[in-house]
Amino acid sequence: MSKKVVVISSSPRIGGNSDTLCDEFVKGALDADNAAVKYNLEEIRFHACKACYRCKTPEMKCFQEDGLAEVLDKMMEADVIVYATPVYYYSMCGTLKRFFDRCYPIFRHLENKDYYIITAAGSKNGDVLTGIRDFIGFSKNPTEKAVISGFGDVKSQPELLKEAYDAGFHC
Ligand SMILES: Cc1cc2nc3c(=O)[nH]c(=O)nc-3n(C[C@H](O)[C@H](O)[C@H](O)COP(=O)(O)O)c2cc1C
Repeated sequence: MSKKVVVISSSPRIGGNSDTLCDEFVKGALDADNAAVKYNLEEIRFHACKACYRCKTPEMKCFQEDGLAEVLDKMMEADVIVYATPVYYYSMCGTLKRFFDRCYPIFRHLENKDYYIITAAGSKNGDVLTGIRDFIGFSKNPTEKAVISGFGDVKSQPELLKEAYDAGFHC
């Protein structure tokens, strides 16, 4: 069955390690006839959550009109969501955290989704999964399908690229 797949790529390095693994995941998903879309957060200029709580209405919309509304709408419709981050100080990068904060209108309303996590580190990824899993854990009935952890230059690691492609193909 064709699935709706949304990939959130948060590295400022478009075409870098985590983003490349995202591209492989998308390729695999598309080859298996799924509908897959990747968003590079670096390309979407978005503000931080202002904690105004105005999104806590039935419309579930942020008052800030900066391009994230489409991303959040796609996530609500998705069957599969992928969160990808470079590892910064053993944690997710600030851009992904800022994005999660802006998911405040929808974070508890995401329901029955399958999740994949992609990380890219130089050599040590420490505790990077904890915050991402905590965020996913706020949604309803989430299923973590796989974690793909890259170290170093992923383009020189065909087995890792295949792991990401296969995850997308079988998502
Ligand atoms: C601010 C900053 C912090 C970093 N912290 C870590 C770290 O804690 N552990 C690690 O192994 N690499 C660390 N790195 C290296 C990156 O995780 C690594 O280069 C990664 O492949 C970048 O992924 P990207 O190409 O998807 O951006 C850091 C890099 C930056 C810029």
